[in-house]
Amino acid sequence: MKKKLVISTGAGMSAESGISTFRDAGGLWENYPVMDVASATGFRRNPALVHEFYNARRRQLMTVSPNEGHRTLVDLEKDYDVYIITQNVDNLHERAGSAHVLHLHGELTKVRALDDESLIWELPPENLDTTPDTLIDGHRVRPHIVFFEEAVPNIEPAIELVAEADIFVVIGTSLVVYPAAGLLNYVKRGVPVYYIDPNPAAVPAGVTVIKAGASEGLRQLKEILCRH
Ligand code: OAD
Repeated sequence: MKKKLVISTGAGMSAESGISTFRDAGGLWENYPVMDVASATGFRRNPALVHEFYNARRRQLMTVSPNEGHRTLVDLEKDYDVYIITQNVDNLHERAGSAHVLHLHGELTKVRALDDESLIWELPPENLDTTPDTLIDGHRVRPHIVFFEEAVPNIEPAIELVAEADIFVVIGTSLVVYPAAGLLNYVKRGVPVYYIDPNPAAVPAGVTVIKAGASEGLRQLKEILCRH
């Protein structure tokens, strides 16, 4: 039976594709006040601004492609049962071909009804822009994004995946946003944990830090895993 390799990715995973991270120098939150464009309060206060922010993110996503790191994660499926938990709202893991991707913070290419959160639509690539007046099947819509101040519905299945992991790998996250940052606490005792990041945050003793970008770090990880 294949081992279960659970991977948790953050913005650094997509950095080499050309999508800015949030908190690095020049990151998104330096140019856009996070509480204006990505919080529940901000959305209530100025929904048009929030729609426009995510329209711009969607347009950018259409111009970029998965990088070597995304492709290495697909390659690892030959030898492992790979499950990806991502904080990223882009679809680069799916476009690279990963089979199991769980989005913690929502998905950029989707919107949902304001009056019924179970109604979710994938936007057509030819019309990715939405406004507070956009109607789909008669419903006003909002970005299918977990705003700050909102619950993270997929954290429960994510915790279950981490608790079942034979190997756990964290890639490209500053580990400041909870509950995602707390996933590390759910690994079983004795499970090897790796953290790939060129500017790693402090992590518990026992975590093997690979100080490198996602593509290079995953190359190194593949070699380490081959030896075991
Ligand atoms: P951050 O911007 O906080 O952190 C990005 C991390 O990526 C940092 O630790 C960088 O060192 C690292 N990094 C930079 N270049 C990299 C590369 N080439 N390869 C690998 N790592 C690299 O982004 P997140 O931790 O993902 O939420 O942020 C978490 C959440 O905060 C996001 O999902 C978003 C944001 O607010 C929402 O919008 C709901």
